[in-house]
Amino acid sequence: MPRLPDGEPAPPSGELPADALARLGEGRFGVYLHVPFCAVRCGYCDFNTYTLPELGPGASTTDYAGTALAELDLAARVLGDAAPVVNTVFVGGGTPTLLPPADLVRLLDGVRERFGLADDAEVSTEANPDSVTPEGLEVLARGGFTRVSLGMQSAVPHVLATLDRTHDPARVGTAVAAARAAGLATSLDLIYGTPGESLEDWRTSLEAALAHEPDHVSAYALVVEEGTRMATQVRRGELPAPDGDDEADKYELADSVLAQAGYDWYEVSNWSRTPEGRCRHNEGYWRGDAWWGVGPGAHGHVGGVRWWNVKHPRAYAARLAAGESPAAGRETLTVEQRHDEEVLLGVRLREGLDLARLDDAGRTAVAGLVADGLLEGVPAVRDRRAVLTLRGRLLADTVVGGGGGGGGGGGGGGG
Ligand SMILES: C[S@@+](CC[C@H](N)C(=O)[O-])C[C@H]1O[C@@H](n2cnc3c(N)ncnc32)[C@H](O)[C@@H]1O
Ligand code: SF4
Repeated sequence: MPRLPDGEPAPPSGELPADALARLGEGRFGVYLHVPFCAVRCGYCDFNTYTLPELGPGASTTDYAGTALAELDLAARVLGDAAPVVNTVFVGGGTPTLLPPADLVRLLDGVRERFGLADDAEVSTEANPDSVTPEGLEVLARGGFTRVSLGMQSAVPHVLATLDRTHDPARVGTAVAAARAAGLATSLDLIYGTPGESLEDWRTSLEAALAHEPDHVSAYALVVEEGTRMATQVRRGELPAPDGDDEADKYELADSVLAQAGYDWYEVSNWSRTPEGRCRHNEGYWRGDAWWGVGPGAHGHVGGVRWWNVKHPRAYAARLAAGESPAAGRETLTVEQRHDEEVLLGVRLREGLDLARLDDAGRTAVAGLVADGLLEGVPAVRDRRAVLTLRGRLLADTVVGGGGGGGGGGGGGGG
Protein backbone atom coordinates (compact mmCIF):
# COMPACT_ATOMS: atom_id res chain seq x y z
CA MET A 1 0.00 0.00 0.00
CA PRO A 2 1.38 3.47 -0.79
CA ARG A 3 2.57 5.65 2.07
CA LEU A 4 0.71 8.82 2.92
CA PRO A 5 2.45 12.05 1.93
CA ASP A 6 4.60 13.65 4.67
CA GLY A 7 3.16 17.17 4.80
CA GLU A 8 2.79 19.13 8.03
CA PRO A 9 0.80 18.04 11.09
CA ALA A 10 -2.95 18.68 10.91
CA PRO A 11 -4.62 20.29 13.94
CA PRO A 12 -6.67 17.87 16.11
CA SER A 13 -9.71 20.14 15.65
CA GLY A 14 -9.48 19.65 11.87
CA GLU A 15 -9.88 23.42 11.46
CA LEU A 16 -8.88 24.99 8.15
CA PRO A 17 -7.21 28.38 7.57
CA ALA A 18 -9.66 31.25 7.08
CA ASP A 19 -8.28 32.12 3.64
CA ALA A 20 -8.88 28.55 2.43
CA LEU A 21 -12.45 28.61 3.77
CA ALA A 22 -13.03 31.95 2.07
CA ARG A 23 -12.37 30.26 -1.29
CA LEU A 24 -14.86 27.47 -0.71
CA GLY A 25 -17.59 29.14 -2.77
CA GLU A 26 -15.35 29.52 -5.86
CA GLY A 27 -16.21 26.17 -7.47
CA ARG A 28 -18.42 23.20 -6.88
CA PHE A 29 -18.27 21.15 -3.69
CA GLY A 30 -18.10 17.36 -3.50
CA VAL A 31 -18.01 14.72 -0.79
CA TYR A 32 -15.96 11.53 -1.21
CA LEU A 33 -16.87 8.67 1.15
CA HIS A 34 -14.30 5.89 1.34
CA VAL A 35 -15.45 2.40 2.30
CA PRO A 36 -12.30 0.42 3.17
CA PHE A 37 -13.55 -3.16 2.89
CA CYS A 38 -13.21 -5.87 0.26
CA ALA A 39 -14.20 -9.54 0.31
CA VAL A 40 -10.86 -10.46 -1.33
CA ARG A 41 -7.88 -8.27 -2.13
CA CYS A 42 -7.03 -8.32 -5.83
CA GLY A 43 -3.31 -8.91 -6.40
CA TYR A 44 -2.81 -5.70 -8.43
CA CYS A 45 -4.67 -3.30 -6.13
CA ASP A 46 -3.04 -0.94 -3.65
CA PHE A 47 -6.14 0.99 -2.60
CA ASN A 48 -6.58 1.45 1.15
CA THR A 49 -8.80 -1.56 1.72
CA TYR A 50 -8.96 -4.48 4.15
CA THR A 51 -10.49 -7.91 3.98
CA LEU A 52 -12.68 -8.38 7.01
CA PRO A 53 -10.47 -10.64 9.13
CA GLU A 54 -7.61 -8.11 8.93
CA LEU A 55 -9.53 -5.48 10.85
CA GLY A 56 -9.87 -6.83 14.37
CA PRO A 57 -12.04 -5.25 17.05
CA GLY A 58 -12.99 -1.56 16.98
CA ALA A 59 -13.52 -1.12 13.25
CA SER A 60 -16.01 -3.30 11.45
CA THR A 61 -18.48 -3.03 8.62
CA THR A 62 -21.29 -2.80 11.18
CA ASP A 63 -19.80 0.26 12.94
CA TYR A 64 -18.55 1.95 9.80
CA ALA A 65 -21.52 4.14 8.81
CA GLY A 66 -21.71 5.57 12.34
CA THR A 67 -17.97 6.34 12.35
CA ALA A 68 -18.10 8.03 8.95
CA LEU A 69 -21.10 10.10 10.08
CA ALA A 70 -18.97 11.34 12.97
CA GLU A 71 -16.47 12.65 10.41
CA LEU A 72 -19.31 14.37 8.54
CA ASP A 73 -20.21 16.08 11.85
CA LEU A 74 -16.63 17.29 12.10
CA ALA A 75 -16.73 18.49 8.46
CA ALA A 76 -19.91 20.49 9.16
CA ARG A 77 -18.27 22.04 12.27
CA VAL A 78 -15.07 22.95 10.39
CA LEU A 79 -16.79 24.38 7.31
CA GLY A 80 -19.45 26.15 9.38
CA ASP A 81 -21.39 28.83 7.54
CA ALA A 82 -18.95 28.64 4.63
CA ALA A 83 -20.26 25.16 3.71
CA PRO A 84 -21.85 25.22 0.26
CA VAL A 85 -24.54 22.80 -0.86
CA VAL A 86 -23.07 19.51 -2.11
CA ASN A 87 -23.04 19.03 -5.90
CA THR A 88 -21.55 15.55 -6.10
CA VAL A 89 -21.10 12.58 -3.77
CA PHE A 90 -18.87 9.63 -4.66
CA VAL A 91 -18.80 6.52 -2.50
CA GLY A 92 -15.65 4.61 -3.38
CA GLY A 93 -13.51 1.87 -2.01
CA GLY A 94 -12.71 -0.77 -1.37
CA THR A 95 -16.08 -2.19 -2.16
CA PRO A 96 -18.84 0.13 -0.89
CA THR A 97 -21.52 -2.42 -1.75
CA LEU A 98 -20.13 -4.74 0.95
CA LEU A 99 -22.01 -2.45 3.35
CA PRO A 100 -25.78 -2.98 3.54
CA PRO A 101 -27.49 -0.60 1.04
CA ALA A 102 -29.36 0.97 3.97
CA ASP A 103 -25.99 2.05 5.44
CA LEU A 104 -24.99 3.72 2.15
CA VAL A 105 -28.33 5.56 2.15
CA ARG A 106 -27.75 6.53 5.80
CA LEU A 107 -24.42 8.07 4.78
CA LEU A 108 -26.06 9.98 1.95
CA ASP A 109 -28.80 11.17 4.31
CA GLY A 110 -25.99 12.33 6.60
CA VAL A 111 -24.51 14.45 3.81
CA ARG A 112 -27.95 15.86 2.94
CA GLU A 113 -28.80 16.72 6.55
CA ARG A 114 -25.49 18.48 7.25
CA PHE A 115 -24.88 20.33 3.96
CA GLY A 116 -27.91 19.98 1.69
CA LEU A 117 -27.70 18.34 -1.74
CA ALA A 118 -28.12 20.29 -4.99
CA ASP A 119 -31.33 19.36 -6.83
CA ASP A 120 -29.31 17.92 -9.70
CA ALA A 121 -26.66 16.32 -7.47
CA GLU A 122 -24.73 13.38 -8.90
CA VAL A 123 -24.48 10.58 -6.33
CA SER A 124 -22.33 7.60 -7.38
CA THR A 125 -21.23 4.44 -5.72
CA GLU A 126 -18.58 2.02 -6.85
CA ALA A 127 -19.55 -1.62 -6.77
CA ASN A 128 -18.08 -4.99 -7.42
CA PRO A 129 -20.33 -7.01 -9.76
CA ASP A 130 -20.37 -9.78 -7.10
CA SER A 131 -21.82 -7.57 -4.42
CA VAL A 132 -24.94 -5.99 -5.92
CA THR A 133 -28.51 -7.27 -6.01
CA PRO A 134 -31.57 -5.80 -7.77
CA GLU A 135 -33.17 -5.14 -4.37
CA GLY A 136 -30.05 -3.38 -3.05
CA LEU A 137 -29.83 -1.20 -6.16
CA GLU A 138 -33.51 -0.24 -5.72
CA VAL A 139 -32.80 0.83 -2.15
CA LEU A 140 -29.88 2.98 -3.34
CA ALA A 141 -31.94 4.62 -6.11
CA ARG A 142 -34.86 5.33 -3.77
CA GLY A 143 -32.41 6.80 -1.26
CA GLY A 144 -31.05 9.33 -3.80
CA PHE A 145 -28.16 7.54 -5.55
CA THR A 146 -28.07 8.36 -9.28
CA ARG A 147 -25.18 6.31 -10.62
CA VAL A 148 -23.28 3.06 -10.09
CA SER A 149 -19.76 2.32 -11.30
CA LEU A 150 -19.03 -1.40 -11.62
CA GLY A 151 -15.56 -2.93 -11.57
CA MET A 152 -15.82 -5.16 -14.64
CA GLN A 153 -12.07 -5.08 -15.51
CA SER A 154 -12.29 -7.76 -18.24
CA ALA A 155 -14.69 -10.23 -19.82
CA VAL A 156 -12.02 -12.89 -20.41
CA PRO A 157 -11.75 -15.63 -17.77
CA HIS A 158 -7.93 -16.06 -17.87
CA VAL A 159 -7.45 -12.26 -17.55
CA LEU A 160 -9.89 -12.09 -14.63
CA ALA A 161 -8.01 -14.98 -13.02
CA THR A 162 -4.64 -13.18 -13.34
CA LEU A 163 -6.28 -10.14 -11.75
CA ASP A 164 -7.67 -12.36 -8.92
CA ARG A 165 -11.18 -11.21 -9.76
CA THR A 166 -13.80 -13.44 -8.24
CA HIS A 167 -16.84 -12.44 -10.30
CA ASP A 168 -18.39 -14.49 -13.07
CA PRO A 169 -18.27 -12.26 -16.21
CA ALA A 170 -22.00 -12.94 -16.75
CA ARG A 171 -22.71 -11.06 -13.48
CA VAL A 172 -21.76 -7.76 -15.10
CA GLY A 173 -24.67 -7.81 -17.56
CA THR A 174 -27.16 -8.72 -14.82
CA ALA A 175 -25.82 -5.98 -12.57
CA VAL A 176 -25.97 -3.31 -15.31
CA ALA A 177 -29.52 -4.35 -16.25
CA ALA A 178 -30.64 -4.26 -12.61
CA ALA A 179 -29.05 -0.84 -12.10
CA ARG A 180 -30.77 0.49 -15.21
CA ALA A 181 -34.11 -0.98 -14.12
CA ALA A 182 -33.68 0.85 -10.80
CA GLY A 183 -33.16 4.13 -12.68
CA LEU A 184 -29.40 4.41 -12.04
CA ALA A 185 -26.86 5.58 -14.62
CA THR A 186 -24.12 3.00 -15.16
CA SER A 187 -20.38 3.03 -15.65
CA LEU A 188 -17.99 0.13 -16.23
CA ASP A 189 -14.31 0.11 -15.21
CA LEU A 190 -11.98 -1.84 -17.48
CA ILE A 191 -8.27 -2.62 -17.12
CA TYR A 192 -5.99 -3.26 -20.10
CA GLY A 193 -2.44 -4.60 -20.27
CA THR A 194 -2.86 -7.49 -17.82
CA PRO A 195 -0.03 -10.04 -18.30
CA GLY A 196 -1.19 -12.68 -20.79
CA GLU A 197 -3.96 -10.49 -22.27
CA SER A 198 -3.87 -10.45 -26.09
CA LEU A 199 -5.17 -7.61 -28.25
CA GLU A 200 -8.09 -9.89 -29.18
CA ASP A 201 -8.82 -10.53 -25.48
CA TRP A 202 -8.97 -6.76 -24.98
CA ARG A 203 -11.28 -6.35 -27.97
CA THR A 204 -13.52 -9.07 -26.47
CA SER A 205 -13.68 -7.14 -23.18
CA LEU A 206 -14.47 -3.85 -24.90
CA GLU A 207 -17.20 -5.43 -27.00
CA ALA A 208 -18.66 -7.23 -23.99
CA ALA A 209 -18.71 -3.95 -22.04
CA LEU A 210 -20.45 -2.17 -24.94
CA ALA A 211 -23.02 -4.95 -25.28
CA HIS A 212 -24.26 -3.92 -21.81
CA GLU A 213 -24.78 -0.33 -23.08
CA PRO A 214 -23.34 1.48 -20.06
CA ASP A 215 -23.59 5.28 -19.95
CA HIS A 216 -19.89 5.61 -19.20
CA VAL A 217 -16.69 3.59 -19.52
CA SER A 218 -13.33 4.04 -17.76
CA ALA A 219 -10.34 2.16 -19.18
CA TYR A 220 -7.15 2.11 -17.11
CA ALA A 221 -3.74 0.78 -18.09
CA LEU A 222 -2.73 -1.79 -15.48
CA VAL A 223 -0.25 -0.24 -13.06
CA VAL A 224 1.94 -2.71 -11.20
CA GLU A 225 1.93 -0.96 -7.85
CA GLU A 226 4.88 -1.39 -5.49
CA GLY A 227 4.08 -3.62 -2.54
CA THR A 228 1.27 -5.56 -4.23
CA ARG A 229 1.20 -9.31 -4.75
CA MET A 230 1.37 -8.69 -8.49
CA ALA A 231 4.57 -6.64 -8.07
CA THR A 232 6.14 -9.65 -6.30
CA GLN A 233 5.01 -11.97 -9.09
CA VAL A 234 6.53 -9.65 -11.70
CA ARG A 235 9.79 -9.30 -9.72
CA ARG A 236 10.11 -13.08 -9.42
CA GLY A 237 9.51 -13.48 -13.16
CA GLU A 238 6.24 -15.36 -12.57
CA LEU A 239 4.38 -12.72 -14.58
CA PRO A 240 5.76 -10.49 -17.36
CA ALA A 241 5.73 -6.75 -16.69
CA PRO A 242 3.17 -4.75 -18.72
CA ASP A 243 4.65 -3.51 -21.97
CA GLY A 244 4.33 0.14 -23.05
CA ASP A 245 3.86 -0.63 -26.77
CA ASP A 246 1.22 -3.23 -26.02
CA GLU A 247 -0.60 -0.74 -23.75
CA ALA A 248 -0.46 1.92 -26.46
CA ASP A 249 -2.01 -0.49 -29.01
CA LYS A 250 -4.73 -1.30 -26.49
CA TYR A 251 -5.44 2.35 -25.74
CA GLU A 252 -5.81 3.05 -29.48
CA LEU A 253 -8.10 0.04 -29.87
CA ALA A 254 -10.22 1.19 -26.92
CA ASP A 255 -10.59 4.68 -28.31
CA SER A 256 -11.54 3.43 -31.76
CA VAL A 257 -14.02 0.76 -30.57
CA LEU A 258 -15.60 3.15 -28.07
CA ALA A 259 -15.80 6.03 -30.56
CA GLN A 260 -17.45 3.79 -33.17
CA ALA A 261 -20.07 2.86 -30.57
CA GLY A 262 -20.77 6.56 -29.89
CA TYR A 263 -18.68 7.06 -26.74
CA ASP A 264 -16.56 10.23 -26.71
CA TRP A 265 -13.46 10.63 -24.58
CA TYR A 266 -13.66 13.53 -22.13
CA GLU A 267 -10.59 12.66 -20.04
CA VAL A 268 -7.66 10.50 -21.09
CA SER A 269 -9.10 7.37 -19.37
CA ASN A 270 -12.83 8.17 -19.52
CA TRP A 271 -15.52 7.99 -22.22
CA SER A 272 -19.25 8.79 -22.09
CA ARG A 273 -22.20 8.46 -24.46
CA THR A 274 -23.47 11.98 -23.73
CA PRO A 275 -21.98 15.04 -22.00
CA GLU A 276 -24.49 14.43 -19.15
CA GLY A 277 -23.02 10.95 -18.70
CA ARG A 278 -19.61 12.28 -17.60
CA CYS A 279 -18.59 11.74 -13.99
CA ARG A 280 -19.00 15.25 -12.56
CA HIS A 281 -17.41 14.24 -9.28
CA ASN A 282 -14.14 13.26 -10.95
CA GLU A 283 -14.31 16.40 -13.10
CA GLY A 284 -14.25 18.33 -9.82
CA TYR A 285 -10.89 16.73 -8.90
CA TRP A 286 -9.46 17.50 -12.32
CA ARG A 287 -10.60 21.14 -12.15
CA GLY A 288 -9.32 21.79 -8.64
CA ASP A 289 -12.74 22.12 -6.96
CA ALA A 290 -13.22 21.58 -3.21
CA TRP A 291 -14.16 18.26 -1.69
CA TRP A 292 -14.22 16.67 1.74
CA GLY A 293 -12.83 13.11 1.80
CA VAL A 294 -14.44 11.00 4.54
CA GLY A 295 -12.91 7.72 5.67
CA PRO A 296 -9.57 6.07 6.40
CA GLY A 297 -6.83 7.32 4.05
CA ALA A 298 -9.25 9.68 2.25
CA HIS A 299 -7.94 13.03 0.99
CA GLY A 300 -9.75 16.37 1.02
CA HIS A 301 -9.10 19.75 -0.58
CA VAL A 302 -10.38 23.22 0.21
CA GLY A 303 -8.95 26.42 -1.24
CA GLY A 304 -5.41 25.11 -1.83
CA VAL A 305 -5.16 23.19 1.47
CA ARG A 306 -5.04 19.44 1.00
CA TRP A 307 -5.19 16.93 3.84
CA TRP A 308 -5.29 13.16 4.26
CA ASN A 309 -6.66 10.88 6.95
CA VAL A 310 -4.92 8.15 8.91
CA LYS A 311 -5.03 4.95 6.91
CA HIS A 312 -6.09 2.19 9.27
CA PRO A 313 -9.82 1.95 9.99
CA ARG A 314 -9.07 1.28 13.68
CA ALA A 315 -6.89 4.38 14.05
CA TYR A 316 -9.51 6.35 12.12
CA ALA A 317 -12.35 5.20 14.39
CA ALA A 318 -10.25 5.86 17.52
CA ARG A 319 -9.53 9.47 16.50
CA LEU A 320 -13.19 10.22 15.89
CA ALA A 321 -14.26 8.45 19.09
CA ALA A 322 -11.87 10.76 20.96
CA GLY A 323 -13.53 13.80 19.31
CA GLU A 324 -10.44 14.47 17.16
CA SER A 325 -9.95 14.99 13.46
CA PRO A 326 -8.73 11.83 11.69
CA ALA A 327 -6.39 13.95 9.52
CA ALA A 328 -2.83 12.61 9.61
CA GLY A 329 -1.26 15.55 7.81
CA ARG A 330 -1.83 18.35 5.38
CA GLU A 331 -0.11 20.70 2.97
CA THR A 332 -0.79 24.18 1.67
CA LEU A 333 -0.14 24.28 -2.04
CA THR A 334 1.95 27.16 -3.29
CA VAL A 335 0.73 29.22 -6.23
CA GLU A 336 3.26 27.34 -8.42
CA GLN A 337 2.07 23.94 -7.22
CA ARG A 338 -1.57 24.84 -7.90
CA HIS A 339 -0.66 26.06 -11.33
CA ASP A 340 1.34 22.89 -12.13
CA GLU A 341 -1.60 20.74 -11.05
CA GLU A 342 -4.00 22.77 -13.13
CA VAL A 343 -1.81 22.17 -16.19
CA LEU A 344 -1.13 18.50 -15.41
CA LEU A 345 -4.80 17.63 -14.89
CA GLY A 346 -6.37 20.15 -17.28
CA VAL A 347 -4.45 18.96 -20.31
CA ARG A 348 -5.91 15.46 -19.81
CA LEU A 349 -9.41 16.85 -20.46
CA ARG A 350 -11.00 16.93 -23.89
CA GLU A 351 -11.81 20.61 -23.58
CA GLY A 352 -8.07 21.09 -23.11
CA LEU A 353 -6.20 23.83 -21.39
CA ASP A 354 -6.55 27.56 -21.96
CA LEU A 355 -3.18 28.63 -23.40
CA ALA A 356 -3.48 31.84 -21.38
CA ARG A 357 -2.89 29.67 -18.28
CA LEU A 358 0.59 28.68 -19.54
CA ASP A 359 3.75 30.65 -18.90
CA ASP A 360 5.90 31.92 -21.79
CA ALA A 361 7.96 28.71 -21.94
CA GLY A 362 4.76 26.62 -22.04
CA ARG A 363 3.22 28.70 -24.82
CA THR A 364 6.46 28.50 -26.81
CA ALA A 365 6.46 24.70 -26.46
CA VAL A 366 2.95 24.42 -27.92
CA ALA A 367 4.00 24.92 -31.56
CA GLY A 368 6.58 22.10 -31.23
CA LEU A 369 4.01 19.79 -29.64
CA VAL A 370 1.58 20.52 -32.49
CA ALA A 371 4.36 19.81 -35.01
CA ASP A 372 5.13 16.53 -33.21
CA GLY A 373 1.47 15.51 -33.47
CA LEU A 374 0.87 15.57 -29.71
CA LEU A 375 -1.47 18.59 -29.60
CA GLU A 376 -4.31 19.38 -32.01
CA GLY A 377 -3.42 22.28 -34.34
CA VAL A 378 -6.85 23.79 -34.94
CA PRO A 379 -7.91 24.37 -31.31
CA ALA A 380 -4.42 25.69 -30.52
CA VAL A 381 -4.78 28.42 -33.13
CA ARG A 382 -8.55 28.99 -33.26
CA ASP A 383 -9.52 28.60 -29.59
CA ARG A 384 -6.13 29.16 -27.97
CA ARG A 385 -6.50 25.80 -26.18
CA ALA A 386 -4.08 22.88 -25.79
CA VAL A 387 -6.01 19.72 -26.71
CA LEU A 388 -4.28 16.34 -26.89
CA THR A 389 -4.32 14.30 -30.10
CA LEU A 390 -4.73 10.52 -29.86
CA ARG A 391 -0.94 10.22 -29.88
CA GLY A 392 -0.80 12.94 -27.25
CA ARG A 393 -3.21 11.02 -25.04
CA LEU A 394 -1.03 7.91 -25.40
CA LEU A 395 1.86 9.96 -24.15
CA ALA A 396 -0.20 12.18 -21.85
CA ASP A 397 2.29 11.97 -19.05
CA THR A 398 5.25 12.91 -21.25
CA VAL A 399 3.55 16.01 -22.69
CA VAL A 400 3.32 17.64 -19.30
CA GLY A 401 6.49 16.14 -17.85
CA GLY A 402 5.41 13.15 -15.74
CA GLY A 403 2.73 12.14 -13.26
CA GLY A 404 -0.81 10.88 -13.94
CA GLY A 405 -1.53 7.21 -14.64
CA GLY A 406 -4.26 4.65 -14.06
CA GLY A 407 -6.39 3.77 -11.10
CA GLY A 408 -10.01 4.72 -10.61
CA GLY A 409 -11.75 6.66 -7.89
CA GLY A 410 -9.88 9.90 -8.42
CA GLY A 411 -8.23 12.29 -6.02
CA GLY A 412 -10.41 11.62 -2.98
CA GLY A 413 -9.67 7.91 -3.00
CA GLY A 414 -8.18 6.22 0.00
CA GLY A 415 -5.43 4.82 -2.19
C1 LIG B 1 -11.98 0.85 -5.95
S1 LIG B 1 -11.95 0.01 -7.44
C2 LIG B 1 -13.66 -0.25 -8.00
C3 LIG B 1 -14.70 -0.93 -7.17
C4 LIG B 1 -14.52 -2.35 -6.74
N1 LIG B 1 -13.60 -2.39 -5.65
C5 LIG B 1 -14.05 -3.27 -7.83
O1 LIG B 1 -12.84 -3.43 -7.94
O2 LIG B 1 -14.90 -3.81 -8.52
C6 LIG B 1 -11.57 1.26 -8.56
C7 LIG B 1 -11.00 0.88 -9.91
O3 LIG B 1 -9.63 1.14 -9.94
C8 LIG B 1 -9.02 0.40 -10.96
N2 LIG B 1 -7.72 -0.07 -10.46
C9 LIG B 1 -7.43 -0.48 -9.22
N3 LIG B 1 -6.11 -0.82 -9.14
C10 LIG B 1 -5.58 -0.61 -10.37
C11 LIG B 1 -4.28 -0.78 -10.95
N4 LIG B 1 -3.25 -1.26 -10.21
N5 LIG B 1 -4.09 -0.48 -12.24
C12 LIG B 1 -5.11 0.00 -12.98
N6 LIG B 1 -6.38 0.17 -12.52
C13 LIG B 1 -6.60 -0.13 -11.22
C14 LIG B 1 -9.98 -0.74 -11.29
O4 LIG B 1 -10.46 -0.60 -12.60
C15 LIG B 1 -11.09 -0.57 -10.29
O5 LIG B 1 -12.34 -0.86 -10.84
S1 SF4 C 1 -9.76 -3.64 -7.18
FE1 SF4 C 1 -11.62 -3.27 -6.01
S2 SF4 C 1 -12.27 -5.33 -5.22
FE2 SF4 C 1 -10.13 -5.48 -5.85
S3 SF4 C 1 -8.99 -5.11 -3.91
FE3 SF4 C 1 -9.09 -3.15 -5.07
S4 SF4 C 1 -10.82 -2.13 -4.24
FE4 SF4 C 1 -11.02 -4.30 -3.62
